[in-house]
Amino acid sequence: MSDFEKKITEFKSKIKSSTKIEEIDSLRSDIFGKNGIINLEFKKLGALSPEEKKSFAANINKIKQELLNIYKFKSDEILNKDIIEKVEKEKIDITLPEKDFIIGKVHPVSQVIDEISCIFSEIGFSVEEGPDVENEYNNFTALNTPENHPAKDMHDTFYLDKDMKTLLRTHTSPVQVRTMLKGKPPFKIIAPGRTYRSDSDQTHTPMFHQLEGLHIDKNINMGHLKGCLNYFIKEFFEVEKIKMRFRPSHFPFTEPSAEVDIGYRLENNKIIIGEGDKWLEILGCGMVHPNVLKNCKVDPKKFQGFAFGIGIDRLAMLKYGINDLRSFFECDYRWLNHYGFDPLDVPTNYRGLSR
Ligand code: PHE
Repeated sequence: MSDFEKKITEFKSKIKSSTKIEEIDSLRSDIFGKNGIINLEFKKLGALSPEEKKSFAANINKIKQELLNIYKFKSDEILNKDIIEKVEKEKIDITLPEKDFIIGKVHPVSQVIDEISCIFSEIGFSVEEGPDVENEYNNFTALNTPENHPAKDMHDTFYLDKDMKTLLRTHTSPVQVRTMLKGKPPFKIIAPGRTYRSDSDQTHTPMFHQLEGLHIDKNINMGHLKGCLNYFIKEFFEVEKIKMRFRPSHFPFTEPSAEVDIGYRLENNKIIIGEGDKWLEILGCGMVHPNVLKNCKVDPKKFQGFAFGIGIDRLAMLKYGINDLRSFFECDYRWLNHYGFDPLDVPTNYRGLSR
């Protein structure tokens, strides 16, 4: 065995017995470095004849490759061992309970939407949605709103183009149109969502929430509307008895139309719902106008029904004693912490809404 081969055998066993990355690193320069054993052996090539050179060089290259493989295998092994040891040492027991558990809160508006959806799903309503950016047709024209109606005024409506064809919906009623156009009667839906009007004070914000209701079938009448709303208000305020009054009103898309007030009284500045002689308006409703049905490809001779639009924020204020609507949308964490709901307390029909 030549001197070179002896040294190579030694290096091989040194690599194999290394346990630390520093050890194997220093071997690298002894073997593959500028003055390492491989380069020194290559230098001998100069003294050889052309035929000898070929096989001599091939042999060194073979040995070099072998050493490189062993070296790579060993250094990977050492590096992996380091990582595995680190992971073992730093293991976290994720089954241990969290000590200071900071839990987010559900906004009262989301809570109230969930509560209302529960109440209406119990009597067969399903939930529909529509976009916040609407076209003029769905928001006004299809809903039988005349060209000169005050609601179309620039001051109330946020138009998104000069032609006044695209807008931020001013109510959830366009979801009625979308629902009827895409399906066949009967319809029994609610549609909660954001709505927009150019208005701002203690009880108005430019963005607010409404919930639309629509029930179209054969032989639906005002009595069904009254019964449905009576049931809803009792369930929502979690009271046995409710004082409710229908006041004649006007909406272009319903005939007859009414606004609904609920009776309340004040006790130490707290609102007690269902008794007393004060009245609070909470929703608009009526029997869907035959023109709206026609615009939505529903035959008014065969089908009729009712619709209503509830102000969600106002209901949330009433039920949970919040007196400034603007605070709803200020994103103040302290406010949310106080008025918000536990995300694990999802309202259900069988366990209760807010208890
Ligand atoms: N869209 C009406 C509003 O925003 C409410 C409403 C809905 C009235 C459905 C009647 C029927 O004021």
